[in-house]
Amino acid sequence: MPDPCPVTRKHLQYVAERTRGDDDFLVALKESAKAAEIPAIWISPAQASLMQIMLKLKGAREVVEVGCLAGYSAIQMARALPQGGRVRTIEISPKHATFARDWIHRSDVAGRVDVLEGAGVDVLATLASNSADAAFLDADKENYPRYLDECMRIVRPGGLIMADNAFAFGQLFDEVPQESGVHAVRRFNDYMAAKPGLHAVIAPIGDGCWIGVKE
Ligand SMILES: C[S@@+](CC[C@H](N)C(=O)[O-])C[C@H]1O[C@@H](n2cnc3c(N)ncnc32)[C@H](O)[C@@H]1O
Repeated sequence: MPDPCPVTRKHLQYVAERTRGDDDFLVALKESAKAAEIPAIWISPAQASLMQIMLKLKGAREVVEVGCLAGYSAIQMARALPQGGRVRTIEISPKHATFARDWIHRSDVAGRVDVLEGAGVDVLATLASNSADAAFLDADKENYPRYLDECMRIVRPGGLIMADNAFAFGQLFDEVPQESGVHAVRRFNDYMAAKPGLHAVIAPIGDGCWIGVKE
């Protein structure tokens, strides 16, 4: 069998052009976030679609996110949940949390997303065991192993655990990476791959998205 072809920027562009894009509301949210000098480091629409499809397949009702930023991924995930579903999204920056709350309030999923302000490790510790069907990690990379450990407690058996930036901002294989979190991502990737009770794979979408099922 020939080697599978490498995933290039051209492939990712091809995928993006065949994926459901942002609606006017999400375009406006991003424009407003940029105007407020919130960094444009949200997930791509293609990654949002992948995560929405996973949540729909799982029939997820309760989702926990670490790293809310402007609320983009939280809104996208909430849109994949049934009536009564809820995303609890954790954010350490008061500025980001305030912005996200405002836009979530105006969105079609108002009432389905709670922004919990605080540090990921502290807030996760307050969440009940087996209280979520899915989790998404997208915050400070150094703490990802701790977030994963907590989410293995919070997510029910059979639930999803997803994590962003497995490709370390495109610098996974760089000898002298520019981004400070690259080494942390490399350590986390090994940690996640070897985590007992978790069946996970990196989907080469966006900056690499871990998709795991808690066994
Ligand atoms: C990459 S952004 C999240 C993007 C968002 N998930 C999206 O795709 O729309 C990372 C966010 O994590 C937040 N953050 C960083 N360290 C954190 C921590 N220790 N606890 C909670 N949030 C943190 C940052 O303030 C930032 O808003």
